[in-house]
Amino acid sequence: MLSGKRLLISGVANRESIGASVALQASKAGAEVIFAAFPRDLVGAKEVAEECGGSVAVLGVDATSEQEMAELEKEIRRCWGGLDGALHAIAFAPKPALGSILDVPASAVQAAFTTSVWTYAAFGSMLSRLAGTSGASLVGLDFDSTRAWPVYNWMGPCKAALRSLNSYLARDLAPAGIRANLVAAGPLRTRAASGIPGFETLVRSWERQAPLAWDVADAAPVAEAICFLLSDAARAITGEVLNVDGGMHAMATWLGDGSEMAAEPA
Ligand SMILES: NC(=O)c1ccc[n+]([C@@H]2O[C@H](COP(=O)([O-])OP(=O)(O)OC[C@H]3O[C@@H](n4cnc5c(N)ncnc54)[C@H](O)[C@@H]3O)[C@@H](O)[C@H]2O)c1
Repeated sequence: MLSGKRLLISGVANRESIGASVALQASKAGAEVIFAAFPRDLVGAKEVAEECGGSVAVLGVDATSEQEMAELEKEIRRCWGGLDGALHAIAFAPKPALGSILDVPASAVQAAFTTSVWTYAAFGSMLSRLAGTSGASLVGLDFDSTRAWPVYNWMGPCKAALRSLNSYLARDLAPAGIRANLVAAGPLRTRAASGIPGFETLVRSWERQAPLAWDVADAAPVAEAICFLLSDAARAITGEVLNVDGGMHAMATWLGDGSEMAAEPA
């Protein structure tokens, strides 16, 4: 599915990272991958790179630094000459921004926004300079930001901004043949998730209400959808948000335990 594609994969901190599942599946599907790892996560990223086989380069980058992003771009150009796709799997919010919406310092919200939203545009800009004449695919990761959750707080508005940004990137990257799409994943037990106070509340909501079974320890369904969006099979799709959440986004909220849905005897 991804044979011959040169893909930049970010957000690999360890084997549980969504980025790790994507890298492993993309490698199996024939892609060549390069990792862009946050410097403090280089060790974990290198372990996953080894599992991918071959000689996968792992480059360190703080994606919020314009200078480091410029160096990353230079290095990719030197190694490969260009890119056919990129996964943006980067998010971070300081503790105060995850614990509350009210009375959160502007500096915490700015840090969350720069890391979780601005960097997606930075990836889009980089791809616009590295894509060849056959275009490229940019994919990012969303969590359903259309509703307020009992937890999540400022990451909610950040993800809503990411959705809006995705539409603008789809508009501005299309002339270069570059597509921009998001996958809105259900809750997965990763390091980023472990930093969300009350994450278990989200997990229980999925257990009760998602129509399809949802395994919080299995990022493979999300990774498969991302590989599809990175592939030419998705060549007519851009500006899309693909929900890979066991169908949770389509359900209304109800207070029962589900037993009231059993069919009434005729
Ligand atoms: N885990 C979930 O339940 C879930 C659900 C929906 C969406 N997502 C999204 O998936 C994406 C990946 O998260 P994950 O759950 O795999 O967790 P993760 O902790 O494994 O990955 C987050 C990554 O962001 C990287 N990162 C943070 N700041 C960075 C910076 N300045 N520069 C470069 N990299 C930086 C970290 O190194 C880490 O690899 C995030 O956008 C997250 O919001 C996660």
